[in-house]
Amino acid sequence: MIRVAFFDAKAYDRPSFEHYGSEHDMQFRFLETKLNEDTVELARGCDAVCVFVNDTVNAAVIDRLYDIGVKLIALRSAGYNNVDVQAAFGKIHVVHVPAYSPYAVAEHAIALLLTSVRRIHKAYNRTREFNFSLNGLTGFDFHGKTVGVIGTGKIGRIFIDICRGFGMKVIAYDLFPAQDSGIEYVTLDELFARSDVISLHCPLTDGTRHMINAAAIEKMKKGVVIVNTSRGALIDAEALLEGIKARKIGAACLDVYEEEADIFFEDRSGHILNDELLSRLISMPNVIVTSHQAFLTEEALNNIAETTVGNILSCFENDGVCNNELCYRCGSIERCKKERKEKCF
Ligand code: NAI
Repeated sequence: MIRVAFFDAKAYDRPSFEHYGSEHDMQFRFLETKLNEDTVELARGCDAVCVFVNDTVNAAVIDRLYDIGVKLIALRSAGYNNVDVQAAFGKIHVVHVPAYSPYAVAEHAIALLLTSVRRIHKAYNRTREFNFSLNGLTGFDFHGKTVGVIGTGKIGRIFIDICRGFGMKVIAYDLFPAQDSGIEYVTLDELFARSDVISLHCPLTDGTRHMINAAAIEKMKKGVVIVNTSRGALIDAEALLEGIKARKIGAACLDVYEEEADIFFEDRSGHILNDELLSRLISMPNVIVTSHQAFLTEEALNNIAETTVGNILSCFENDGVCNNELCYRCGSIERCKKERKEKCF
């Protein structure tokens, strides 16, 4: 029996994980709390922990997990910027779900964009109160506009396909441009200068943190619409707010926020929000915020559970490879052990 402490569990997580776990000899201990230095003891007696984007998996937590005998950190997300993979190396294996439904995220980005540009959120509220006025609801055609896509991986490419369907002109920036893709790659500065809409689909790294800052906003077109379904810290939220107040930014569609960890995924209605910046952003008529919801489709939840259960099983099989293992050297050393069908350490 493989025992897994499942941190930050939500009602929507359980059915799919219980289903796939029950097909194997795997037992989940569902915990509503997030993993951090104060809660790590709750994993005692478990072989693995299953964590999500706002769990804290820093060196101190990793050392404690190691001390109490946990052998695997199974992320049920694609992004892993919250895990200190270097600290984990040699102690605890780390696996993630590289793709569960890139469609879910790309489609959510489009949903936010359409809602914002065509003022659907405003119209919905108006007609519910029998206010059928159209004043203030003017949008713009997507057709013929330029969309700048930062990060042309799985999600970015699907987003691009959808934008092309609208008849938009697509330009892109990626550290590793996709060969023979027919995508017009430009420098970041050119992307900022030419885009009517900018959508972020790259990971959060030291190099991408605050890539949208005051200097970047300065280079953008007046009225630009910024969409972020990737990671909050790609945007300096204070600079974004200033750009909105200065009427430089036409609209912002945010599924992620730099300081979301203690706020998103929870019902905070009835409480005073202790985040002035987020409150101010939400109060803006041209800002739409969803709380890290882009992944949330039935297909994605099933794929996440199926892949995570498979990842965990593979790591506990004798001499098996850890499916979807991550380490700080992945992609940076010439002869990766994974290519030889071995665990990373
Ligand atoms: P991917 O790994 O397929 O694509 C990422 C792309 O970003 C790659 O083409 C890579 O070359 C590029 N990239 C890396 N560093 C870059 C840099 N400095 N500048 C520009 N491009 C760079 O990842 P995928 O599946 O497309 O996911 C993208 C991001 O979406 C994830 O990192 C994650 O943060 C976010 N995400 C958000 C979800 C949500 O619910 N809001 C759900 C799933 C992912």
